[in-house]
Amino acid sequence: MKKLTKPLIVGNWKTNPPTLDSAKNIFRSMKRISSTRKDVEVVICPPAPFISELSDISGIDVSHKNKRGVSVGAQDVSIYSEGSHTGEASASMLESSGACYVIVGHSERRAAGETDTTISMKIAQVLKTRMTAILCVGEKIRDEGGEYLTEIQGQIRAALAGLTYESFSQIIIAYEPVWAIGRQDNSAMSAHDLHQMVLYIRKFLHEKWGESVAKNVPILYGGSVFNENAYDILWNGEANGLLVGRASWTVESFSALLKAIDAPAPKEEKRELKSYPRKTVKAVRKSRPSKMKKVKGKSKTKKIKKAVRKSVKKPVKKISKKGGTKRKGSKKKR
Ligand code: PGA
Repeated sequence: MKKLTKPLIVGNWKTNPPTLDSAKNIFRSMKRISSTRKDVEVVICPPAPFISELSDISGIDVSHKNKRGVSVGAQDVSIYSEGSHTGEASASMLESSGACYVIVGHSERRAAGETDTTISMKIAQVLKTRMTAILCVGEKIRDEGGEYLTEIQGQIRAALAGLTYESFSQIIIAYEPVWAIGRQDNSAMSAHDLHQMVLYIRKFLHEKWGESVAKNVPILYGGSVFNENAYDILWNGEANGLLVGRASWTVESFSALLKAIDAPAPKEEKRELKSYPRKTVKAVRKSRPSKMKKVKGKSKTKKIKKAVRKSVKKPVKKISKKGGTKRKGSKKKR
């Protein structure tokens, strides 16, 4: 099962911008900014009519999702693969237009009548291609009795019910509490609450599909993420990435968000080691016993360990004034 090695930042453009020209301009700038970042993977999900052109600019197709830059995703997919279904875009149409990802079951689509059944049919369609499905789940309200947990579990169970173990490499879960999406006061959920939910989802995945799925399926967070709260949500909430709506609509807000989520600084000891003079680091490396070759009989490492043990047990020898040695603490001979 594939594991995300860096945070995945997915921009959901919804019904923006109004024209193809402006979409291309925004996308080009986002590509330029994202190309300088080795530490995040960026996906933009534009409206369906823009996918093909933006994918040409992107240069990343479904088989090279992890290249630097920006890849393109779709915001929805049809439950049908072909036929008389006016207005629908099938999974293979999206894939051949250059989409690498598809958002499935977004709360705005659920509000427009999408059900758990249609969502699972859409997931099945995505799995016929090489695209990755970003399954959105989220409660409408948070009740004190914890009913919302059952709601989340139900949404995941229904959408992923018939999946084989292998198919999970094409699944990402985006936890998007409906009450946190599109908030005017920009207040997303707290990192602590998100962390609890991430653990809850992983526990459920473990019960239902086992350890590997539970550990490796990426879980994103979405709902009023901006540059002000992105770092906390991502790193302290322990999400594997973010699904961003409004903050992905302009180059300024999106680049501010990417800047804000710079990976946390390395731990204290590592930083200290880095600042040692080169000579000291070299000397430390040289003195490490692990790289020493084995000699006949006991290995040098063993010999060193034995010597260390001995030296700890025995009291340290002191040089006497007369040039001889004496043990520390031994009585003076008269
Ligand atoms: P928002 O949208 O970031 O504007 O709240 C998130 C979403 O709908 O995915």
